[in-house]
Amino acid sequence: METVLITGGTGLIGKAITAHLISKGCQVIVLTRQLPKEKSVTSNIQYALWDIKKQTIDTNALQKADHLIHLAGAGVVDKKWTPAYKKDILESRTESSKLIIHALKNNPNKIKTIVSASAIGWYGKDNFKEAKAFVETDGAAPDFLGETCQLWEQSITPVEALNKRLVKLRTGIVLSNDGGALAAFKKPVKFGIAGILGSGKQVISWIHIDDLCRMYISAIENEKLSGCYNAVAPEPVTNKTLTIKLAEKMKGKFYIPLQVPSLVLKIMLGDRSMEVLKSTTVSCVKIKQTGFAFLYPTIDIALQQLCGK
Ligand SMILES: NC(=O)c1ccc[n+]([C@@H]2O[C@H](COP(=O)([O-])OP(=O)(O)OC[C@H]3O[C@@H](n4cnc5c(N)ncnc54)[C@H](OP(=O)(O)O)[C@@H]3O)[C@@H](O)[C@H]2O)c1
Repeated sequence: METVLITGGTGLIGKAITAHLISKGCQVIVLTRQLPKEKSVTSNIQYALWDIKKQTIDTNALQKADHLIHLAGAGVVDKKWTPAYKKDILESRTESSKLIIHALKNNPNKIKTIVSASAIGWYGKDNFKEAKAFVETDGAAPDFLGETCQLWEQSITPVEALNKRLVKLRTGIVLSNDGGALAAFKKPVKFGIAGILGSGKQVISWIHIDDLCRMYISAIENEKLSGCYNAVAPEPVTNKTLTIKLAEKMKGKFYIPLQVPSLVLKIMLGDRSMEVLKSTTVSCVKIKQTGFAFLYPTIDIALQQLCGK
């Protein structure tokens, strides 16, 4: 039975990957900044501590692991982008990578694979519908998220020099019933309002949480995977399409489409409004070429499962 160490394993993606790994008979060790108050009910999950600022890590956990999944990082849309929070967003990722590399270098371990999160924020924005989908060889955008993703990916790359296979998953907008973007989209719909953001024409490259978990596991199991892959579904949709389809699934005909002007979003969200207004069409051809098959390739199939109808 293999053991997988997951940094940031207490978050949305980490919890879902943990459940997938446990169902496959793996052991999971969650590397966290704070041990949970309640003990886990399953003996397949353990918790271990690290402190990124002090650069300390539970080396026993490291020694037990066969693979490492690196998800930790301060939430990108959780708080206002003040200079201090931007620093936190970046350093929670780069300094944690630094700690992992130092620990792997200086402690005996049998870790074979590192699968690290990255994000499609790497690519910046495209020109709406006519745009050619971004592929993994496209350069990073010259903006805050583009630069953050670049430094984040660079920060974990030295593990390759330690003979570890590294896979980086540039993840799209994750659709899950347990939080994240879908919860935000659902909120107004519950009150019968389909809130279309800005023009609604901006493209969202999304992925169903179960497909993302399966992709992380495939990155561990398929030793041919190495380097960067876009973790997005084959059919990105516009903000308007996603919002209307979600409203239809949740409310049938009983909803009112309401356009939220870009200016209002800028006032409400500041710099972060760019993230909901920008269009990013991203290709999943490279991961499909590895043999990965999506269970939720279209938004209809994904929402069908997520909305239970
Ligand atoms: N969800 C998405 O749509 C999406 C899309 C693209 C990329 N990603 C990336 O995928 C990774 C996981 O996403 P997620 O949605 O699961 O995130 P999440 O729910 O916010 O969880 C991230 C975890 O990282 C740890 N963390 C938070 N702030 C930290 C800090 N300042 N320093 C160190 N660790 C910190 C926390 O674990 P502890 O409190 O236990 O330490 C937290 O549970 C993130 O890096 C995210 O940027 C997510």
